[in-house]
Amino acid sequence: MKRLTVAVVAMMLALVTSAGAQNYPLKPITIIVPFAAGGPTDALARVLGERMRQSLGQTILVENVTGAGGTLGVARAVHAAPDGYTLSIGHLGTHVVNGAIYPLGFDLVNDFDPVAEISSNPMLIVSKNDVPAKNLKELIAWIKANDGKVSAGTAGVGSGSHFAGVYFEQLIGVKLQFVPYRGTAPALQDLVAGQIDLIVDQASNSLPQVQAGKIRAYGIASTKRVPAAPAVPTVDEAGLPGFHIELWSGIWVPKGTPKDIVAKLNAAVVDALADPAVRKRFAEVGLDVPPRAQQTPEALAAHQQAEVKKWWPMIKAANIKVQ
Ligand code: MLT
Repeated sequence: MKRLTVAVVAMMLALVTSAGAQNYPLKPITIIVPFAAGGPTDALARVLGERMRQSLGQTILVENVTGAGGTLGVARAVHAAPDGYTLSIGHLGTHVVNGAIYPLGFDLVNDFDPVAEISSNPMLIVSKNDVPAKNLKELIAWIKANDGKVSAGTAGVGSGSHFAGVYFEQLIGVKLQFVPYRGTAPALQDLVAGQIDLIVDQASNSLPQVQAGKIRAYGIASTKRVPAAPAVPTVDEAGLPGFHIELWSGIWVPKGTPKDIVAKLNAAVVDALADPAVRKRFAEVGLDVPPRAQQTPEALAAHQQAEVKKWWPMIKAANIKVQ
């Protein structure tokens, strides 16, 4: 009798859940952006969100929850109800690096369910225009001559721009003065205004200002140039071989979100990434779309775990302190 009751309850629960998934989404969905509005992660969320609305038939609201290198926004998402109405957008910094730096109190790999990888772009070394350097070798010489005095804008400890800055420091063997912001949008504003000296930024954030002549670019942290900026050399060409960082981004939901709902969200992301208008927007700022086979929840999970293995030893060795 008791076993029958359990089976009936389980069946009813499955019925309710799948009915819930069938009718999902019944209200607007919130995507939590862990950095300031106007930055690269925010831009991704808004471009994708607008296209996902068409597939899902519900508005995707963007909520910027900033601070602590993105950990505050990610924490808000991980503790949300696993019902498909709260998404976490993030990247190598927020969903890999921060796990090796901050006492998060949750597990970036196991407390989220992956939805899809959405984009990647190499980092780009940029400076304000009146830095006395015309190329990367001169920039590195200038930084060495001003060891510990050159200011570098970041989106906070553990963010992509900070982590890339630390890696850059290590490779050139001098210290930078990191200036944390709530995202690289405000950092870029200060770079254009000459308040800070440089940023190791996502190409998608800085390229429009480089193309407008408002800031100077020295090298793409990749083996290949970016089609959107053919004149900008790779770091290998410019004299810092091996300084390669690809900042990939993804979307996750809280652990335990029904699989049918994850599948619907994934399908909406895949639709968006196949949309020519979205692809054009991405290409204009140097963003790559992952191949279709890499747009599955399983592929994001595998990539995230591989990046944890790859970068955590370097991050731990760098002994990065959370201010
Ligand atoms: C942002 O959107 O501001 C960036 O993703 C920050 C970063 O990680 O550098």
